[in-house]
Amino acid sequence: MIRSAIVPVAGHGTRLLPATKSQPKEMLPVARKPIVQYVVEELVANGIEQILFVTGRNKSSIENHFDTDPELTRVLTEGNKKDLLAELDFEDLEAHFFYTRQRFQKGLGDAVRCGENFAGEQPVIVALGDSILGINAQSKAVSRMAQLFEEKRASCVVAVEEVPREDVRHYGIVDVVPGPDGTLRINRIVEKPSAEEAPSTLAVAGRYAFSPLIFDMINRLKPDKRGEIQLTDAIQMLCEEGKRVLALPLREDERRYDIGNFPSYFETFVEFALADPQYGDGFRKWLEKTIGKKAAKA
Ligand code: G1P
Repeated sequence: MIRSAIVPVAGHGTRLLPATKSQPKEMLPVARKPIVQYVVEELVANGIEQILFVTGRNKSSIENHFDTDPELTRVLTEGNKKDLLAELDFEDLEAHFFYTRQRFQKGLGDAVRCGENFAGEQPVIVALGDSILGINAQSKAVSRMAQLFEEKRASCVVAVEEVPREDVRHYGIVDVVPGPDGTLRINRIVEKPSAEEAPSTLAVAGRYAFSPLIFDMINRLKPDKRGEIQLTDAIQMLCEEGKRVLALPLREDERRYDIGNFPSYFETFVEFALADPQYGDGFRKWLEKTIGKKAAKA
């Protein structure tokens, strides 16, 4: 089993301004919880025991969120607010949290490199802090990735999902060859290609399993034309060195919810709100009524 995960949360979230001016995009709520709480709950449910957040300036609320707040607990306990106290149960998640800062915004590869000493000689999961897998993060993809990584002695396993061709320019895109043992071997990976250049429509979905070799690759990379070190380029180097790099397709019920821009943030929020056990039904009725009224007016 892989026990450690690196969660990069250092990005500026500029595509979500002004909402992200002074708060991390990973702390924006999706229905009841901040995005990063779903990510952490998913990781812990997949056997992860220690998590390193790679943060930046303005990210201290993430640290506060996973810390206990004795004052708040005292007020709720004194007021006998058991239901509200239950909302803080996630504070008891069985995981150790570590924090380090990426001092300059030099790309995802550079952010992951900040976890080199944390990972040491052990394999590690990288989970992007702005991506939730499946409604309420009920995904076991990370466990399947870890299993595949060990069984096939891979150097890297990447979670992938199909996207429409017009969207490939937003993602890392992989070229895969099915192996005789049913695995999907990645031959080539390209960061944000044009629709014409994309080798497929299989996109990298924000979860990776790596052997420590990835750090050697990142350390050999030169910044791209935007001055960034791309994680995708480091994975491409693993492919070129003949290392075993495998793709793990997400199941339909664990599709990736991306919070990187407003349209997908809105969609994610509404889907999760509709799935809320307490308020989902009422919200659905209100939404149908509102949409019905708008349609009648048009
Ligand atoms: C990053 C990765 C990209 C991946 C995407 C979604 O891009 O570089 O390969 O497909 O996350 O998981 P970003 O969204 O940070 O630009």
